[in-house]
This record gives sequence, structure tokens and C-alpha cells, in this order.
Amino acid sequence: MSGFDFNKRDSFGSRLGVIAAAAGSAVGLGNIWRFPYVLGENGGGAFLLVYLLIVFAIGIPVMMSELVIGRRTNRNPVGAFKLLAPRKPWYLVGLMGVVSAFMILAFYTAVSGWTLEYMYQTVTGGLVDKSSDELAGMFHSFRAESLRPALWFVIFMLATSAIVLGGVRRGIETSTKIMMPLLFVILIIMCVRSLTLPGASEGLDFLFKPDFSKITGKAILMALGQVFFSLSIGMGTIITYGSYIQKDNNLANTAVQVSLIDTMVAVLAGVAIFPAVFAFGISPSSGESLTFIVLPGVFQQMAGGMFFSFMFFLLLALAALTSTISVLEVIVAYFSEQLGWSRKVSIMVATLSMFILGISASLSLGVMQNVKIFDLNIFDLLNNTTANILLPLGGLLIVAFLGWFFPSRDVRDELTNGGLLKARYYYLYRFVIKFIAPIAIALVFLNGIGIIKF
Ligand code: PHE
Repeated sequence: MSGFDFNKRDSFGSRLGVIAAAAGSAVGLGNIWRFPYVLGENGGGAFLLVYLLIVFAIGIPVMMSELVIGRRTNRNPVGAFKLLAPRKPWYLVGLMGVVSAFMILAFYTAVSGWTLEYMYQTVTGGLVDKSSDELAGMFHSFRAESLRPALWFVIFMLATSAIVLGGVRRGIETSTKIMMPLLFVILIIMCVRSLTLPGASEGLDFLFKPDFSKITGKAILMALGQVFFSLSIGMGTIITYGSYIQKDNNLANTAVQVSLIDTMVAVLAGVAIFPAVFAFGISPSSGESLTFIVLPGVFQQMAGGMFFSFMFFLLLALAALTSTISVLEVIVAYFSEQLGWSRKVSIMVATLSMFILGISASLSLGVMQNVKIFDLNIFDLLNNTTANILLPLGGLLIVAFLGWFFPSRDVRDELTNGGLLKARYYYLYRFVIKFIAPIAIALVFLNGIGIIKF
């Protein structure tokens, strides 16, 4: 091999590469599939406002904190906490992240697989001339089939593993640097199409005009969960990517840029979806089926619909792929650094175990739908517990660790690259991670699950 040193820890090669990879992780099904339906179910514009507030007040500080932990230690989440707090139980926060990674990858890759089915259906004409009932039937019977969704799942998982096998720089960085700009172009095309439909403005009103009576405790919890899920924070993905970032990178800038890109894509996805939904007189609160039932119906009715349908599901697939690789990387970094396995073996073990968990998640919408835990099928259990419980809890512990248990001087040192950068925001950041973020997360959380009421 051409001078590739396998003992040297891999790293990102450029600033742009860091942004592409981290924004690639953040931008995903969370923005295009989950955000619009959660927003639709929780009142539209008011939800957006709460969402933006949480991104700035909590999301960005948590992301900065993860980057600090990762780059300070150059380790996977478990190794990082072990290094920073030896012989203390903090490494359990990292371990919780690895467990969350397994859970997310399972249901997330299942949904990613559906995007392939819908690209396939678009090309083979399966989405033409269908009534909305037929489209709904098609979606439900597709998910209830055992083989098809499982097959797409396997294909998507293998694509993910193949990129991660290429390594951090040659696999993850190179592929995201190509996929992210492509995704952006497709999204803009979709927005233009949607905005030029007659009656589009009603969708914009829904998205941007807040109705404050819709802000309930549950809506705030959903917004918090959505911020964590969408920014990929609270489970060590950003710790892991941070561990591959070189010492001259300005971590605060990186956190702000990635968060802004992610938020912009979520808003643009809303702009691509709601005007079209309203233009064709469909209810915006149709839940998770918005993407797979409502939109195909919308595409059928618009000029050039099948082209846009293909583009849309391609957009989803690309966005999903740049996220699944980041989740798999957490598991692989943990296996290879903590358990001492080679990357190849780590990827193989992770992929094979994912086949079991992911196919169960996929089947839980079909033949296994009667298997219920806490009254939820496996898919919903994975989707809801990760976003609304594990990620916020992880985020709370991460900021509490940096705010209360780790020397402030070291945090500052990492954020200023050893004193080379100015960090005028530092005291504000410190105040946020010590007080605002932990208290806000705890309150929202307890209120959302009904332990306290405000
Ligand atoms: N942020 C990704 C999305 O919005 C999902 C994700 C969550 C990725 C957690 C990594 C970690 O689709």
C-alpha cells in the first residue's frame, strides 16, 4: 500500500471536509421526513419558533461541547470520557451514546430503505394514476411485506458500511463532499417547484405564521427532541467526528455553521413540502406518512411530477446516507478503540448485528406488529425513545460534565486552540452549559413526560 499508516489515527483533511461530514450527519431524514411531520402535528409556525429558539439556546452549545470533548481526547465517546474522568462513571454517558447509535441506526436505515423503494416505484411507474387511498394502501402493504423492506434495508446498510470501510478521510469525507452539494441543488429545485404552484402561500402561512395557542408542554418536548435528533447531538456522533478534527479548526465556528446549515435545510424542506401540500388541499398534520403517502399524491398532480418524485426520494436517500455513516462510525470507533478489534472486523460485527435489529424494526411494522413494548411496536419504541429521551438525557449529561466537572481552563484552551483564537463568547457559553441548558432540558423533559406540569 502507498504509505498509508494504519497505526496513525485517521482524520479529516480540510475545513470544508469537516463541515461536509458534520453537516452531512446532521442533515438527514430528520430534516426532510421527521421535521415537517412533527411540525405539522404540533401547530406549524409556533413550533418553528420554539425550534429555532432551542437550536440557539441549547443545540449550538451542546454541539460545541461535544466537539470539545472529541478533539480534546481524540477518542470515541466511551474512550473520551474514560480519558477525561478516569475511574469515574462518566464513561457510561459514552456507552449510552453507543446504545443510542444502535437503536437509531436500526429504524433510521429501515426508513432510508423505503426511499429506495419509492425511487424504484417512481421509475417503474408504480406511483402514476393512484388515488390517495391506493397510495396509502400501497405504503402500508409495502411495509407489511416482510421481504421487500428488509431487502432495501440490507442494501442501504451495505452502502453505509462500504463508505465507512473506506475510512474517515477517504470514505466519509470524500463521499459527503460530493453528496452534500448535490442534495442542496435538488432541495432548491424542489422549493422552486413548490412555490410556483397556485395556492402556495397558504403553505407558507402555515409554516411561518405562529399560533401561540399551539405551544403546549408536549410541543416543546417534541421540539427539543427534534433539535437533538436533527443536529445529531446527545449521543456522541459529534464527539466522534470531533475526534477526527485537526487542532487548528475553530470549533465554535464549526458548531455554528453546521447548526445553521441543518436548520436552513429543515426550513427549506418545509418550504418544499407545505406549499405543495396546501396547494392540493391536503391536511398538513398527516403524520409520518406525509412523505410516503401525501407527497406521492402531490407529485402525481403536478406537472413534471415523476421527475420531482424521483428527485425528492433521491434527496432523501442521499441525506439519509450521509447520516447513517456517521451513526455507524460511532459504533465502529467504539469497537475498534475500546475492544481493540480491527476496523474491518468492527464494521462486519456492527453490520451483522444491525441486520438483526434493523430487520426486526422493519418487520415490526408488518408481521411483527403485535410485538409491543410499553405499548409501542419496536419501530416506534426506537424512534421515540431515542429522540425524546436518550438524546436529551445524553446532551444534559454532556453539558453538565463540561460545565461542572471538567476544568474550565481546559475547555477554554480547546475552544481557543491553546490561546490562538479569541473567544469573546466564552462566558456566555459557560453560563449556558452550566445553568441554562441543563435546567431547560430537565424542565422540558419532566414536563413532557408528565412528572411536573407548568
Ligand atoms: N441528524 C440526523 C437527521 O436529522 C439523524 C441522526 C441522529 C444522525 C443522531 C446521527 C445521530 O436525520
